[in-house]
Amino acid sequence: MAKNFYIMFGPPGSGKGTQAEILGKRLNLPTISTGVLLRKEIENKTELGKEVESIMAAGNLVSDEIVAKMIDNRLKEKDAGQGAILDGYPRTLNQQDFLLSIFKKTAEAVVTPLLVDVSDDEVIKRLGGRRACACGATYHMIYKPPKNDEICDVCGTKLVVRPDDQPEVIKERLKVYHKNVDPVIDYWKKSGKLIIINGEPPIKEVAEEIEKRLKETSIG
Ligand code: AP5
Repeated sequence: MAKNFYIMFGPPGSGKGTQAEILGKRLNLPTISTGVLLRKEIENKTELGKEVESIMAAGNLVSDEIVAKMIDNRLKEKDAGQGAILDGYPRTLNQQDFLLSIFKKTAEAVVTPLLVDVSDDEVIKRLGGRRACACGATYHMIYKPPKNDEICDVCGTKLVVRPDDQPEVIKERLKVYHKNVDPVIDYWKKSGKLIIINGEPPIKEVAEEIEKRLKETSIG
């Protein structure tokens, strides 16, 4: 049976994490976000968490080796047996080579790359209103507010502003994104496989567009 892997690309704050969650629920596949996995390490105050905390707070990428180990282990977990939605990985050409090498060893892997396309100006607007929970749930105080003010609907924890959502750090993340991820996206554009989604409409409309486009290609 085919194993379906969806790779969600998009600038920071484009909504790729939000859409990855929606798609994962619809297709009954786990969402694997390297950002969420790294933030859990920080939350749990592990050695790895201490190592990556300042790098992430500054908006830079953590090393390819760290995320490679993380993604390799996570993809071996049982719930990823039928595939997964990847959010935030790969982010460099090295990471991409590593991921492709994993897919090569995976029988019947079908890979679908999606780009949630949003302008840099929209990113700045969205990240200013974002609130996050350590459990991975994400809200926006205007576009996707929690039911109770600043409290996570999923686990009841107090929501926080991510340290990398400060205006100066957002600018740095956008720079890092264009420098490192644009070449990875170019690879998929040239392959003719990349599904480009306009990520600017409201969350529900973007989700519907993703569903429609995947159905057109008969892979979702
Ligand atoms: P990561 O957590 O992956 O952050 P990111 O890529 O910068 O993306 P974001 O999580 O900020 O945004 P998103 O596109 O998922 O948007 P969201 O759905 O939240 O990575 C963080 C850091 O970890 C990196 O900077 C790096 O240091 C490290 N890292 C992670 N992966 C790595 C890797 N592979 N290699 C090396 N380092 C790595 O939406 C944003 C906001 O907008 C939310 O408030 C949401 O509710 C709202 N929203 C979403 N969609 C819409 C919409 N359509 N309309 C209105 N509002 C919307």
